[in-house]
Amino acid sequence: MLAPMTNQQSHEDGKLSDDEYHWLVKRAEGQFGITMTCAVHVQEIGKGFPGQLGLFSDAHIEGHSRLAKGIQAHGSLAVVQLHHGGMRSPEKLIGQAPVCPSNNEESGARAMTLQEVHQLRDDFVKAAQRAKQSGYDGVEIHGAHGYILSQFLSAEINHRDDEYGGSVENGCRIMFEIVEGIRSSCGADFLLGVRLSPERFGMKLDEVKVFCQQLIDTGKIDFLDISLWDCFKDPVEEGQQHKTLLAHFEELDYKGVGFTVAGKLYTGQHVHDILDTKVDFVTIGKAAILHYDFPKQVISDPNFECKATPVSRDYLREQALGESFIDYMSRWKGFVAEAQKV
Ligand SMILES: Cc1cc2nc3c(=O)[nH]c(=O)nc-3n(C[C@H](O)[C@H](O)[C@H](O)COP(=O)(O)O)c2cc1C
Repeated sequence: MLAPMTNQQSHEDGKLSDDEYHWLVKRAEGQFGITMTCAVHVQEIGKGFPGQLGLFSDAHIEGHSRLAKGIQAHGSLAVVQLHHGGMRSPEKLIGQAPVCPSNNEESGARAMTLQEVHQLRDDFVKAAQRAKQSGYDGVEIHGAHGYILSQFLSAEINHRDDEYGGSVENGCRIMFEIVEGIRSSCGADFLLGVRLSPERFGMKLDEVKVFCQQLIDTGKIDFLDISLWDCFKDPVEEGQQHKTLLAHFEELDYKGVGFTVAGKLYTGQHVHDILDTKVDFVTIGKAAILHYDFPKQVISDPNFECKATPVSRDYLREQALGESFIDYMSRWKGFVAEAQKV
């Protein structure tokens, strides 16, 4: 699967741009089995990045229909990642204070009313319905990386005293309701995945594992996407370091639900090593930026190795990245070579 990757290439009103279309359709051409979009915001106030693709209004459906068709034309499944930045939405971008399960001094976010929590849930479901209407094969709910759904999951951030906070069970409630709402309105054949990350932003590894098992046990999701950032690392959390982070997630009983992970899979050997674990399919991020056809390369050569970074802007243009995405990647340390000064 192509990892969801923010690329800042779309229009400021959230409509699809040609650059975003070409970057993704090229990955489908390169034989990704599932081509996942970047994080796509489900409410205007949940915008996390300039140039972010949106699905918060019917006006976005036309662009998404074009994108889904373009991806599927290469035999790949087209899946949208549904996102809301919550307290991580920059005030400068959204023109007002961001929202969060509770007031948050550090980010300046204000607590959502109960009605706003219900609206958030309904807007995730509505965005999934628009995705279906656009012709996508499915959606992934972004519950990772400290964005709004992981803000609900975090006892450090969520201090609500209603049914959406105050206990682990209440913190998970909105995610279960979104899963239920999408499954019941989009049907059994519509792919439904959930992405979670087990570290940082107040996440507790054991709690995330229990939550994953409960999600599996609902029988309503098709895959779990665990964002490890490094598939070979040990957990940071004390008392959990006796095995790798991935090994912790191998302990779950998947009951036929697909299991995928992302993080530092740069070579054919890495891919094969991870596929030898309980993982059903791998999710590829930066290697897919460097090689639009990373799957094709790995299939034809099990010893394939990703190009070393930094790479030139021209090289990234050849891999179908537009200028805004290349600018964004140049902020990732060591990824893009500085232009030669003359
Ligand atoms: C440029 C860039 C943008 C990303 N944007 C998102 C995103 O929109 N949603 C998300 O869940 N993860 C995002 N991630 C994380 C990736 O999906 C992936 O989990 C991470 O890069 C680790 O995989 P890798 O080592 O193969 O790159 C992003 C990563 C990169 C490099």
